[in-house]
Amino acid sequence: MSAVRGGFSSRLGFILAAAGSAVGLGNIWGFPTQTASNGGAAFVLVYLVLAFCLAYPAFMAELLIGRYGQANAVTSMEKMSRNLWQKRFAFIVGFGGIICAALILSFYGILAGWMMSYAIEPVTSLLGYSEASSWLTSQSITRNLIFTALFMMLTISIIRRGVEDGIEKWSKRLMPMLIGLLILLIIYVFTLEGSREGFVAYLNPDISRIFEPDLLISALGQAFFSLSLGTSVMVIYGSYISKKENLVTLGAQVTLIDVSIAFLAGLLIIPSMYVAQSQGVAIFSDEGALISGPNLVFDVLPSLFDGMGAIGLFVGFGFFVLMSIAALTSSISMLEGPVSFVVERHNIERKRATTFIGFGIFVTSALIVLNFDALFGLVISISTVYGQPLIAMLCCVFVGWIWQRSGILAEIKLGNDTVEHSLFWKIWPWYTKFICPSAIAIVFYHSL
Ligand code: PHE
Repeated sequence: MSAVRGGFSSRLGFILAAAGSAVGLGNIWGFPTQTASNGGAAFVLVYLVLAFCLAYPAFMAELLIGRYGQANAVTSMEKMSRNLWQKRFAFIVGFGGIICAALILSFYGILAGWMMSYAIEPVTSLLGYSEASSWLTSQSITRNLIFTALFMMLTISIIRRGVEDGIEKWSKRLMPMLIGLLILLIIYVFTLEGSREGFVAYLNPDISRIFEPDLLISALGQAFFSLSLGTSVMVIYGSYISKKENLVTLGAQVTLIDVSIAFLAGLLIIPSMYVAQSQGVAIFSDEGALISGPNLVFDVLPSLFDGMGAIGLFVGFGFFVLMSIAALTSSISMLEGPVSFVVERHNIERKRATTFIGFGIFVTSALIVLNFDALFGLVISISTVYGQPLIAMLCCVFVGWIWQRSGILAEIKLGNDTVEHSLFWKIWPWYTKFICPSAIAIVFYHSL
């Protein structure tokens, strides 16, 4: 069956593809912005703890569901269900995740389109096309439609090729480029005046802020978004992993990569903000609050790059190419959720299904672009603030309360004979059953 369905050809292929899904605008744009607005190093510390203690166990639940079911999220969960009621519940959770992935892609494509237009701007500047440059960096319906369409076409062309030739091959190429570019930029920023202060703000936590409710809630939400939970994505990626692999360590490795890249992105952006500040750009208000908020990347960084003179064009180009790459390896995973569902359940050929669904999502993006003020924030909050935590919580409930413990153990033992005696098996089932759903429920409640 797996030969027909396709699957990752190697362990590295899976790690890079899953890490590619996890690492995206959430890490490189969301995490530094949240860090800057939530007390710097204190946020980083809480995020690290929550990512490993809560997001990782929920991530394991999704991977296990997929590998057991060897199918899309709905079919996988239905396979674990023992009665009609459970099957209905499986459908709601699985299909809810798929819709959530499609909705996230519809706004993510717009954001990623901005990243692409900001990546091209240094090129037009270098060539002296100043009108083109200002068109590329100003909000307009035409620009947004064109770049969202371009980004969606890239996403569709990779997913049309399937798992091994599309997702795996491209994640293997794009992920190392991303990490390399990040490290080079960090080294560069390190040489600039003002960056020291940024490193201190980033690495030296103010312990008194650690238990602030806002900080805790933002950090937990960020960890779930970052690991792509509650969207069926990790279920379907789990279904492409061979039964010979040790899921416990694979999951831990992906979590480690995701967290490390967020950490690296912070190491680049927080000091960059302080460099900009030392060059006279207003970043923090007198009370210490972040002025640009979500626009940080688009407002402050280009002006930082401008201040660098000619080299700034290259740094700006590198940075926004990096953002576009990160967005692409995430968007392909979002499209795979709905595509695998339609291919497997309705027996439609992959290429047709991909084009059709990709086009449908693009139409949704176009609607958002045309009604930006009313829809952009709304779609983000429906999908990420409400949808993701709710569905991730239901996945944990599914594994903890519906799937039989012996079934879970049998699945997890494949590729990991000794797991029964490990610390993971002593803690994780209990954790997934009680702690994860309650903790997510608390976040969900607060977001309401
Ligand atoms: N994890 C991705 C990021 O950090 C976003 C994402 C969410 C990807 C949901 C897939 C599904 O940007």
